[in-house]
Amino acid sequence: MIVLGIETSCDETGLALYDTEQGLIAHVLFSQVDLHAQYGGVVPELASRDHVRRLQPLLNELLAKADLSLDQVNAVAITKGPGLVGALMVGISFAKALAMSLDIPCIEVHHMEGHLLAPMLEENPPQFPFVALLVSGGHSMLVHVKALGEYEVLGETIDDAAGEAFDKTAKLMGLPYPGGPRLAELATKGRSGVFKFTRPLIDRPGCDFSFSGLKTQVLNAYLNSDQSEQTKADIARAFEETVVDTMRIKITRALEQTSLKTLVLAGGVSANKRLRETLSTIAQEKGWQLYYPRTEFCTDNGAMIAITGALRLANTQPADLKIQALARWPLECL
Ligand code: KG4
Ligand code: ZN
Repeated sequence: MIVLGIETSCDETGLALYDTEQGLIAHVLFSQVDLHAQYGGVVPELASRDHVRRLQPLLNELLAKADLSLDQVNAVAITKGPGLVGALMVGISFAKALAMSLDIPCIEVHHMEGHLLAPMLEENPPQFPFVALLVSGGHSMLVHVKALGEYEVLGETIDDAAGEAFDKTAKLMGLPYPGGPRLAELATKGRSGVFKFTRPLIDRPGCDFSFSGLKTQVLNAYLNSDQSEQTKADIARAFEETVVDTMRIKITRALEQTSLKTLVLAGGVSANKRLRETLSTIAQEKGWQLYYPRTEFCTDNGAMIAITGALRLANTQPADLKIQALARWPLECL
């Protein structure tokens, strides 16, 4: 069975073809980063309009890349939420129109489940059960993944998501959008130990995160500094180390609490090099097995939606033709 996956929940238009026998066939992606850069963040209406413009040409490009025709596609998987409602509705309308005209099922996919299952696209995929650190622009959570569709959230952010904290911290130091990867880049030039920030919520039991106080610590440090390039890099380094160390502490708790030794990193922030390197070292020391997607599948993409649709094909009712996008959608409601 060949599944076409479509992702339009935010500012990336991603499409992919996944074969349940052979794995990923091809994928294409258009990032709207340049469109939103001048506004310093995603403008929802512009995002929706751009998805309208990009979907059909991207589908043509994908089919050409895969050397397949549309009538060889057996199902369409589409992100239903969480995300920007307008952007989601564009993708859902497109997917349902395709499914109806081809007379094939349409499967509605949870965007965060897509991130969670993205490591399954790799050659050596993780086996259930595992603990997943899901860190993106809109979410930060630790999830006990018991089986496909059986998710228990062990902890989540009580304020900003990790990616949001990266983006806002970058912005307050004057870095251009998109801030997260730029801040990570700047941190490579920073010196460890010049600035020190308190690791949030570590004295409280449990696996919840909080990042908004850290942002305030950075703001105060920045405003009271000489604001030179080296100082910004030193602050970025301290910020990144604090975030990574906080995650290390909460991950350790989650693995101890579940008596599991398999850890999966997913979502946009899992592209962060320091996070990966730090956790790789600890995993070796502690005998954990660590998995993460290749960098291009950490951030939003169509491949993660295609594989999630393919894995769910057998036990999900095909969606009806109602266009229902969900801005919020708890993972545990699946
Ligand atoms: O998963 P994603 O593409 O979109 C959401 O579902 O939110 O995640 C985007 C987030 C952004 O906040 C971005 O700044 C962050 O992931 N991000 C990073 C890095 N690459 C992307 N944060 C830290 N370090 C990176 N290398
Ligand atoms: Zn995402």
